[in-house]
Amino acid sequence: ARKIIIDTDPGQDDAVAILLALASPDEIDLLGLTCVAGNVPLSLTSKNARMVCELAGRPDVKIFAGCNRPLGRDLVTAEHVHGRSGLDGPSLPDPVMPLQPGHAVDFIIETLQREAPGTVTLCPIGPLTNIATAFHRAPDIIGRVQEIVLMGGAYFQVGNITPAAEFNIHVDPQAAKIVFDAGVPLVVMPLDVTHKALVTKPRNDAFRALGNKVGIAVAQMTEFFERYDREKYGSEGAPLHDPCVTAYLVRPELFSGRHINVEIETTSELTMGMTVADWWGVTDRAPNALFIGDLDADGFFNLLTERLARL
Ligand code: BDR
Ligand code: CA
Repeated sequence: ARKIIIDTDPGQDDAVAILLALASPDEIDLLGLTCVAGNVPLSLTSKNARMVCELAGRPDVKIFAGCNRPLGRDLVTAEHVHGRSGLDGPSLPDPVMPLQPGHAVDFIIETLQREAPGTVTLCPIGPLTNIATAFHRAPDIIGRVQEIVLMGGAYFQVGNITPAAEFNIHVDPQAAKIVFDAGVPLVVMPLDVTHKALVTKPRNDAFRALGNKVGIAVAQMTEFFERYDREKYGSEGAPLHDPCVTAYLVRPELFSGRHINVEIETTSELTMGMTVADWWGVTDRAPNALFIGDLDADGFFNLLTERLARL
């Protein structure tokens, strides 16, 4: 199984990404969860992460709190999408499991320094503050990362938090720039692909029909999330952004994209956090990312449903 760290700001879609990882022990060895401020403040993301692990019956997962604000900007949150708690929808009990002592950034650094080079994959599904801080503080770890598979950015689908930018990148563009410029093999799940992973009613019914605690909670989460996207985009269901990352680790053949150059806009307030993706190869800038554009949506939902049944 591939060793990974999920860096997260749960978030209903983060929750589903984490559940898929926990349900896939043959493919994924989850070394820890590192929490960051994003959808809601850090106190809530680090609480929600623990609620999700307890929902899965996994109070043994190591969960760390990380950075509580972006590198150089005020925190922008997304309660309008995720609700006050960040995880509105199901009513889950308050977590009992503790946070690990120590800072998420130290855990990321120490893990990469301890494990053999090229054997740990980072999976950021929130703003990139923790990862960038770790790279800045301990540059020796950069060359030891196997791959970064992240959710963030947009190209043809443009923005969801501003007209030009996707939320995770917009919240901390400086951090994103550090990560995209680091020279680590990078796989990017932008809105272009996540807006094809839509939880339609039959797909949500399939989660609920699993009948287990996890299936029912996931159905309630995506229903809550849905109300926003239906009003906003008129789409036939909520995009399940973050699970694209963990699904890629389990079944990469479900996804396709192009190896291209992607730069992060960090200076213009109007387009702050835009991912300028050279999809058509019109520059000679070196490719730095596999930018995913498409997925087999039925295959993706079949995988999710089959795996969530195991929890
Ligand atoms: C991303 O932003 C968050 O609201 C979601 O959890 C996802 O990571 C989508 O733009
Ligand atoms: Ca997220």
